[in-house]
Amino acid sequence: MVFFLDENLIKMPNNCLITINDISRNQIFEFLRLSNEFLSVIKKPVKLAALNNKYVAIMFFENSTRTRVSFEIAAKKLSAEVINFTSTTSSINKGESLKDTVITLKSLGADILIVRHSNEGVPSQIAKWSQLSVINAGDGMHQHPTQALGDLLTLTKSYNLKPETYQDFFKDKKVVIVGDILHSRVARSLIDLFNLLGCNIVLVGPPEFIPEGVEYFSGIEISYELDKELKDTDVLYMLRIQSERLGQGSSLNLEQYRQYFSLNAKRVKLLSPKVFLMHPGPVNKGIELDEAAFSLPGCLINEQVKYSVPARMAVLFMAATKGFSDE
Ligand code: CP
Repeated sequence: MVFFLDENLIKMPNNCLITINDISRNQIFEFLRLSNEFLSVIKKPVKLAALNNKYVAIMFFENSTRTRVSFEIAAKKLSAEVINFTSTTSSINKGESLKDTVITLKSLGADILIVRHSNEGVPSQIAKWSQLSVINAGDGMHQHPTQALGDLLTLTKSYNLKPETYQDFFKDKKVVIVGDILHSRVARSLIDLFNLLGCNIVLVGPPEFIPEGVEYFSGIEISYELDKELKDTDVLYMLRIQSERLGQGSSLNLEQYRQYFSLNAKRVKLLSPKVFLMHPGPVNKGIELDEAAFSLPGCLINEQVKYSVPARMAVLFMAATKGFSDE
């Protein structure tokens, strides 16, 4: 008898982090607790043995600086063996399929796969094929969960929060996300995470950058006028224009975009002195942000990069131990 296996029916293992919905609310607070522990050892000349004898394969099919390097530092700090897989120098260039490549890495002993790809769904497909722990390091316009978790850690440190206040602190905070929301995997992960924490989320951008139907989600408002939103904003999250994802027929007028949505010196003056400014990087300077924005006391752009290392250490540790769900 022959069995045909429908790949859609194969489940992912529960130590995969493909979207923010894969991590429970409890495990988000556990993630923050672990990140703080790892943060306290990051500058010490020691490595932790947590991932000793584990092989972490960093599989990036799309460009990256922050995510790739911070995952590599995080894995090494936990004593993992790091396999830096690059598609351009692999046998994929000789015609080997992605599935065969993944099975090959599994046969070579990989335990955790960190995957970035320009197509949505590739990390979850790899998780089903390999049945290994897979961390999504950004897939197309879908999700970038470790960016959102690292940003949450950055906020808890910048607000100087004690762990016992994590549960309720973000409730009703006004988080304004500005720019190219349609093409942004970072925005999708942030929306899921801030929604779970009870924030009031306002999405601001030109109509062509606002995903259709998003206004029907509870806790989300849409605005086309950035100036009106700035005064009482707690967290202002500016997004990168994803030039590589804009269609050929895009009618985006950069000068108009700058005029209405750039955080320039004039808009900086409309902000509360307590506001925190974030951006996932890389910044298109002069388009999303002007120099005046970088001088804001609450500008966290460099902190986001700094805290991404303990955040990714915590994610790797959870992947190698009890996973991300409450089960
Ligand atoms: N924020 C982010 O994902 O940056 P990289 O593309 O440099 O990894």
